[in-house]
Amino acid sequence: MPFASILDAVGNTPLVRLARFSPKSGVEIYAKLEGQNPTGSVKDRIALYMIGVAEESGDLSSDKTILEPTSGNTGISLAMVARAKGYRLLCVLPDIVTPEREQLLRAFGAEVIYASGAQSTNDAIFKAQQMAGAEPDKYFMPYQYGNENNPRAHYETTGPEILRDLPQVDVFVAGLGTGGTLTGVGRYLKEQSPETKVIAAVPHPGDLVQGLRDLGEGFIPPVLDESVLDGRVVVDSLSSFAMVKELMEKEAIFAGISSGAVLKVAVRAAQRLESGNVVALLADGGWKYLSTGLWSKDYGEVKEEELQGTVWW
Ligand SMILES: Cc1ncc(COP(=O)(O)O)c(C=O)c1O
Repeated sequence: MPFASILDAVGNTPLVRLARFSPKSGVEIYAKLEGQNPTGSVKDRIALYMIGVAEESGDLSSDKTILEPTSGNTGISLAMVARAKGYRLLCVLPDIVTPEREQLLRAFGAEVIYASGAQSTNDAIFKAQQMAGAEPDKYFMPYQYGNENNPRAHYETTGPEILRDLPQVDVFVAGLGTGGTLTGVGRYLKEQSPETKVIAAVPHPGDLVQGLRDLGEGFIPPVLDESVLDGRVVVDSLSSFAMVKELMEKEAIFAGISSGAVLKVAVRAAQRLESGNVVALLADGGWKYLSTGLWSKDYGEVKEEELQGTVWW
């Protein structure tokens, strides 16, 4: 049956077995390919859900502008949803954003302003909060870090899709950005089967893996429910890059950088199991990272040592 609009194409992403990453017989690793969403990332789910709920509650009406401090995947997803539904979107960007991302936002019709002097997303968040606070009738700010509909989107869609396709999940691994994916999917999987382990892939302090957040920086996103987590594994950026390349070489899957970190953690988790299934959620495709030249560089072997801050179940 045809879809009524592009918004109906959000979600229902494929779960694909990674046979060549399985460490032993009886242990399988599966990847949930969120890069298959319309704008190429998992964030299409939360953008669609946060806007839908805001429309229903009356927080968002056609006279308002959607305002969000983001240069990343969430901005691009909100831009798609806003364009499809006919809303204005204003993104507040830090100065350091790459030209590709600004171009993509503008292509979808989003307006862009820079938080002057803002070196980080935190500065852009502060500026957007000031603007929304000063003119609450003019703006609706979804604010993914503090919006419960972010994890709820995953509780209602991503989690059920995984169990529909694979009824037994022993370990679930995802990257930690806002914590929405881990909280929402983790809650759902544990409600269905309390034995399921939920593991966060986190970046090494000071070592950027785009999309992921080091909680040691002091900001704990309000939507993250740490009680859902059974462990967190620290991954360095070179291992993430090497793993993204290995995924392309072994399985012909083109994923983004945070997926390398997640897959590395999934492989380590699989090594700890006697038997069972590990699901790794790969948040985006590789397109937005082509300019890094990642796929033409040589990173050697993926390092096997465990980094400081790692906690396993
Ligand atoms: C590429 C990428 N990977 C992983 C994540 C983490 O997802 P979440 O915000 O649900 O924790 C994000 C978003 O923050 C992302 O953009």
